[in-house]
Amino acid sequence: MTLTIALAKGRLLDGAEALFSSAGISFPPRDTRRLIVEAGAMRFLFVKDMDVPVYVEYGVADAGICGSDVLLEARSDVLVPLDLGFGKCRMVLAAPPGSGFGGAWPAALRVGTKYPNIAREFFESRGHAAEIVKLQGSVEIAPGLGLADCIVDMVETGRTLRENGLEVVEEIVQTSARLVVNRASDHIKRAAVAALLQSLTPRPRAE
Ligand code: PRP
Repeated sequence: MTLTIALAKGRLLDGAEALFSSAGISFPPRDTRRLIVEAGAMRFLFVKDMDVPVYVEYGVADAGICGSDVLLEARSDVLVPLDLGFGKCRMVLAAPPGSGFGGAWPAALRVGTKYPNIAREFFESRGHAAEIVKLQGSVEIAPGLGLADCIVDMVETGRTLRENGLEVVEEIVQTSARLVVNRASDHIKRAAVAALLQSLTPRPRAE
């Protein structure tokens, strides 16, 4: 039975390809701009990371791979059966050095982020008022340009923060790539979904 898999274009794609290859599942060629590609018994959709759980929730895709940051933000009604163990990043609060975040946080904070739900929840959990400015990317430039006092964003190597004059104030959550599955597909295509899960389950490496 054919499964449709939604994959996030961008930084998780290399990890997804490596995972599928090591599981012996055909992966589409990467030298195409086509966004719907059949490979072996699967059909792959290449979409923006935030859209992966949307395609899966609505049943257009049976399953997908996206970061746990996207799941925390999107709050889609999907099953999340596997932490795939790659694409590890940190969601952080970052600000220019000396912004006064060491002690009490400045009042009336403005926060630039691609993740308004996560940012809002974080500041609410601290009982701190914050105005969230939703951006689509390149959020690291917002403090230097006066658009925001600080940002909530993903950090992998830390290079983008460093090179744009920001430092980590606090880690909010660690994230990694997750397999997500549509609730109905989990029943209707049970055998195919179970086989996919088994193939993609990270195995401890033999010593
Ligand atoms: C992500 C994230 C940071 C950067 C962090 O951006 O939003 O900007 O990667 O990586 P680093 O710690 O290794 O420097 P992405 O490349 O996904 O683009 P974006 O600007 O669209 O968020």
